[in-house]
Amino acid sequence: MSNNNVQIFDTTLRDGEQVPGCKLNTEQKLIIAEQLDYLGVDVIEAGFPVSSPGDFKSVEAISKIVKNATVCGLTRAVENDIKVAAEALKYAKRPRIHTGIGTSDSHIKFKFNSNREDIIERAVKAVSYAKSFVEDVEFYAEDAGRTDNDYLARVCEAVIKAGATVLNIPDTTGYCLPSEYGAKIKYLKENVKGIDKAIISCHCHNDLGLATANSIEGVINGARQIECTINGIGERAGNTALEEVVMILKQHPYLNLDTRIKTEMLYGLSQLVSDSMGIYTQPNKAIVGANAFAHSSGIHQDGVIKQRETYEIIDPKDVGVTESAIVLTARSGRAALAYRAKNLGYELTKLQLDEIYISFLDFADTKKQVNDDDVHQIIENSKIYNGISS
Ligand code: KIV
Ligand code: ZN
Repeated sequence: MSNNNVQIFDTTLRDGEQVPGCKLNTEQKLIIAEQLDYLGVDVIEAGFPVSSPGDFKSVEAISKIVKNATVCGLTRAVENDIKVAAEALKYAKRPRIHTGIGTSDSHIKFKFNSNREDIIERAVKAVSYAKSFVEDVEFYAEDAGRTDNDYLARVCEAVIKAGATVLNIPDTTGYCLPSEYGAKIKYLKENVKGIDKAIISCHCHNDLGLATANSIEGVINGARQIECTINGIGERAGNTALEEVVMILKQHPYLNLDTRIKTEMLYGLSQLVSDSMGIYTQPNKAIVGANAFAHSSGIHQDGVIKQRETYEIIDPKDVGVTESAIVLTARSGRAALAYRAKNLGYELTKLQLDEIYISFLDFADTKKQVNDDDVHQIIENSKIYNGISS
């Protein structure tokens, strides 16, 4: 693997599925997993096998059908979790066990009523046990975002020695600032003995709207895996959005970081996940929202009609959206009306356009959006219509 490749670890079917009321059945999970594999993700976190018989069944079924990606199952640092995950993953071509434990003082004290040395011991034991089943073992230091860097480095060093191949540094509560998260990754790169034997992974939550920015800061500072979900779905305010990090890396080639994602599939996958889970995607969602390539103000429409790049940094086709949308509203100008009229077969002269535009504005003030039928009606009913060929 080249050093500028960022692995995409998709956790839509595990962390993403933790959205209340959005449980998927095995059939739906299989369809999504197959599409994620085509999309080109490197790792699919298929579930948390010990959590329920249904999750076990899904992880096992996904392991059987995924052709290229690594299939991963989550566990706590508990022997039975690990044994059950190994069993669920036994048909996977490339199985990975993802085990870990909370490392922040708050988790150590309140979740485990324990101490730092005991946590390191449990972490090492879990990784060693997981290694007895599979070669590829990822360790997560839960709440790493609020774990002091010095102690986190000690935990990382110990689990690498025990054989961890990937170190997941989750900002579980979405608390870190990008500069802070980036500095944490840099600190680990510079202070953990044996760090080059493992891949550092970013797993960021979006409680302050910083999940994507933090993940990007993480890879800029040396991480080489991002854990993310389609549409950014996940616990509370969600996880890092896969489509966002992938397109950021693609649109900023000077960062010299890339992924293997077939970006033209992003919009289709977004729709599939949204429909399967019954979660509506906000219209202004970056990359995949209904308005991500829609232009409604006159100034912007005029620019986009002249040259798409004036107001778009991404070619919509690159993410599977057929074309930019020129939305007609009371804020639209003559250029947008003429453009839409032309698409409908009306070649308007300047004089005709000026007059029809007045009727258009009167109509648009009564409606949120003016559709093709409305444009037909406005033109057909206008006095100046005589002589207009359609
Ligand atoms: O957010 C988190 O810390 C997690 C871990 C279980 C990886 O999802
Ligand atoms: Zn998480």
